[in-house]
Order: sequence, then C-alpha cells, then structure tokens
Amino acid sequence: MQKRLRIGVIFSRMRVEEKWIFGALEKRGIDYERLDDRSIAFDLDHPEPWRMYDAVIERSISYTSGLYSLRMLNAFGVPTVNTAAVAEICGDKLVTSAMLARAGLPQPHCVTAFTPEAALDAIEAFGYPVVLKPVVGSWGRLLAKINDRDAAEAVVEHKATLGSVQHSVFYIQEYIEKPGRDIRAVVIGDRVLTAIYRKSAHWITNTARGGEGELCPVTPEIEELCLGAAKAVGGGVLAVDLVEHPQKGMLINEINHTMEFHTLQPLSGIDVAGEIVNYAMEVAKANPQS
Ligand SMILES: Nc1ncnc2c1ncn2[C@@H]1O[C@H](COP(=O)(O)OP(=O)(O)O)[C@@H](O)[C@H]1O
Ligand SMILES: [Mg+2]
Repeated sequence: MQKRLRIGVIFSRMRVEEKWIFGALEKRGIDYERLDDRSIAFDLDHPEPWRMYDAVIERSISYTSGLYSLRMLNAFGVPTVNTAAVAEICGDKLVTSAMLARAGLPQPHCVTAFTPEAALDAIEAFGYPVVLKPVVGSWGRLLAKINDRDAAEAVVEHKATLGSVQHSVFYIQEYIEKPGRDIRAVVIGDRVLTAIYRKSAHWITNTARGGEGELCPVTPEIEELCLGAAKAVGGGVLAVDLVEHPQKGMLINEINHTMEFHTLQPLSGIDVAGEIVNYAMEVAKANPQS
C-alpha cells in the first residue's frame, strides 16, 4: 500500500490565503499540520520530527523566518514550496534583477550602488524621476519616487543615516510611466494560472496600498514572459509582476515567492489555494520521506 503523504504549512497569521490553503488540504483529505512560525524551533541534532513531512508549504509573513525555515528544511532533506534557493532570489529585488538579466529577460533599467555618493551619481545619470527601493520588502513599503536632485539627496542621506544595513544597498530603477496599472500573474510549475491588472491613481499599485484588481487576459506574450521569469529564479509557486513601458513594452518588475492572492482568486475564479496544494502534493510525491 502506498504511504499516506503528510504536508506541513508554516504560517504567521491566518490571512484569507491561509484559510483557503487549509480548506483545500481538508477538502482533499490530506494529512497536514499547521506550523506557526512564532512557536517552531529547529534542533539541528534532531531533524526527525521535520522529516515526517513529505513537503512543507511556507507562508511566513516574515521574509527572514520563512527563508531560514526553508534553509533548515532543505538542509534536513525536506522538500519545500518554494525552495530556499528560490526564496533567496525572489526575496531580494537586486538578486532577482540579476537573475533576470542573466536570463536576458526584459526588466526596468536598474543600477545598484553601495555608498550615498555613488548612489547620487547613479541617480543623476538616470535623470528624474527615478525610483529607489529597499532590496528586501513588500506591500510597496519604503518605495521612493524621486523627482529632483534635492529629493535624491534627502532620501539617500536618510537611508544612509537612519536605515538598517539593508538600506546601504541602493537599488535604483528607471521610473516607468505605466498606464495606471501593473499586471500580477500567478505561475505554478510550468503553468500561468491567471493574471489581474492592479489599477490605481497612485504610482504604487499594490492591492495592500489600495490598488484595485481587474481580470487581465493571459496573452501569449504574458505567458512567455512569466514562464521565463519563473524559470530564471528556479520555479515553483510564484507571482510575477509586470509593468507596461510606453516604449519598451512589457517588463518584469518583480517576482514574489509567498504571494497574497486575496484579490486575484475571487476575481479570476481560479482556485489558486487548491492549485498550490496540488503542486505541493506533486513535490511530496516526487521525493517522499521514508
Ligand atoms: N520603476 C517603477 N516605475 C513605475 N512604477 C513602479 C516602479 N517600481 C514599482 N512600481 C510600482 O510600485 C509597485 C510596488 O513595487 P514593487 O517593486 O513590486 O515593490 P513591492 O515588493 O513593495 O511590491 C509596483 O507594483 C508598481 O505599481
Ligand atoms: Mg510587488
């Protein structure tokens, strides 16, 4: 008889996405456990309890907790959705950009520098407006659109003086005059499940910042770009964000490895949570723990 597979889900808070994922696991009668990242601990001398899981889905809100959990699990030989390697790339905008560049995929022009002086020089070379982002972050937090030299000097000095170590890496991007929206597509394995526009009067279109969703047809162009982006970062369960540049066309802005889909799932009618569970089961089957 085939062994019954067991899935773990690491999470921080019961957002609607976690509710849907737990619901999908229950609906399929899958043996699973909820692992609250505020109470778990990894004993390096005792990986056995973790090896009970044939796959672990990581849904931490904290990038650091999620990443280190994945690193521990992968070191113990436990398959995860996503892998630690993918989280390392997608959790850092600069590493993501580097992987996209290596794959020759279209993205906004990006330059990085490590001192305020070098950052200011790079910003001046771009011309204004220009966008500065923390390399690690989400929900549109601490993104800065800089319209002139005065603002550039102020933001760079604030980052250098008040910011954590992370802010000493200056991630500088061309500002894109997009048509009041960007595109969020969900890729699972080798399929683009669905996509939405995120519309906003503000230049930051995250739904966490008030952006509104609208269904976006998955054109062959979107499909090709998203599959290419997913492959460039190692694949798995990913949200690919695209922006429409008035001259350059569709560009890949970022790739999220623990995405929220509270707007996208009801809008598209696609059971993203169910597809994540199906994918985790595939991963578990491919490498069952004995
Ligand atoms: N270079 C840019 N030009 C124009 N809009 C941008 C640019 N970078 C980001 N945005 C807008 O800000 C949003 C958030 O940026 P993003 O890089 O995805 O950061 P986060 O990880 O916080 O979501 C994007 O969805 C997009 O609407
Ligand atoms: Mg984003």
